[in-house]
Amino acid sequence: MWGGRFSEGPSALLRALNDSFAFDRELFAEDVEGSIAWVTELGAAGVLSADEANALVAALRRVTLTDSDAEDVHSFVEDALRKDLGALAGKLHTGRSRNDQVATDLKLWLKRACDDAIALTKALARMLAQRALDEAATPMPGYTHLKQAEPVTFGHWCLAYVAMLQRDLSRLNDAQARGDECPLGSAALAGTPLPIDRARLAHTLGFARATANSLDAVSDRDFAAEYLFAASLLLTHLSRFAEDLIFLTSDEAGYAELPDAMATGSSRMPQKKNPDVLELTRGHAARALGELTGFLALLKGLPLAYNKDLQLDKEPLFRTRATLAVLLPALTALIGGLQLDRDKLRAAAASPLLLATDAADELAAQGVPFREAHERVSRAGAHSTRSVDDVLAKKNVYGGTAPARVRDAARAALEALA
Ligand code: ARG
Repeated sequence: MWGGRFSEGPSALLRALNDSFAFDRELFAEDVEGSIAWVTELGAAGVLSADEANALVAALRRVTLTDSDAEDVHSFVEDALRKDLGALAGKLHTGRSRNDQVATDLKLWLKRACDDAIALTKALARMLAQRALDEAATPMPGYTHLKQAEPVTFGHWCLAYVAMLQRDLSRLNDAQARGDECPLGSAALAGTPLPIDRARLAHTLGFARATANSLDAVSDRDFAAEYLFAASLLLTHLSRFAEDLIFLTSDEAGYAELPDAMATGSSRMPQKKNPDVLELTRGHAARALGELTGFLALLKGLPLAYNKDLQLDKEPLFRTRATLAVLLPALTALIGGLQLDRDKLRAAAASPLLLATDAADELAAQGVPFREAHERVSRAGAHSTRSVDDVLAKKNVYGGTAPARVRDAARAALEALA
């Protein structure tokens, strides 16, 4: 592919470091797609004859992914083409560089990774919103500082995570829209010398537009960094969700029980039912955060334009997509099957301790300054005269935990996520 000026082939030591086919084969489908669009444009521009372009497109459609000792996925596809077509394969790379090629492949791949993440996150958010609707009036103790604070409803707890996931969805959509630009036609760094219609090429590949600057196009990885950030924050939310559930299902709290299919046992202690799925969620969040910081560090010292450091941009992205693909459906199944101990939740939420704020509110409603009411209740342990249901119903403000509000919010979320 680049042997012309060299007197000997690459050493095994170099190849062990330099080759990327072992991982960038993940971009095979996108690479073929990009090449089909490129030769089609070369045909339209009159750079290739119609017969040549047609032969190349047909051969590209015949290439299948196999093991190979090719340097990278781009040379793999070209090698396969050469075996099929002979010398004509050498025309595929006319006016193009692996620099604009790999940036294009990665952007196509990331658009799909965003689609996946969006679909899986929506499914989890929908499950949570459905449970919120079903449990809109189920009291539970609400916490601050992990100390029992005031009653809330389980539905309201579910909707807190729906709110986080909806922001994650918005971030993934934004990242996808900003990255929706086609680098192909930027060539190595300066732009292709061929009369290519880059806007048409971008649209053929399903991009919204072509990139505006060839130097930027081959070295920009903002879209990948944004995906990693959106995924890291999503995983941070999932980690908090996991942490809450580990607490709620702990032997000490015992407010809920994991579905058997989503829990693990101990090889030693027969009584154990362990929350491994939730602990792995926390662990994956930690790792995703590392992927993001490593990725930004990879970019921060790069001079324009392409540098080989960028070959290392791919594995964090591949790993993150694979993590989301297993984690999100597992958590969806887990929350769908979570069994609540509603009596225990209600009893805890109805404890006089949790109704102390309401007792102070009652005094304040009778004209006692709230500061004094607070003091009296905390000294005398004055009790609320209301039931937990009355206290919940009073939080009847937009965004509050009153069951009627939770029902409205759950319905609105289900509609938004449909
Ligand atoms: N495997 C390379 C990568 O992933 C492809 C681009 C190579 N470009 C180059 N100028 N050597 O970044």
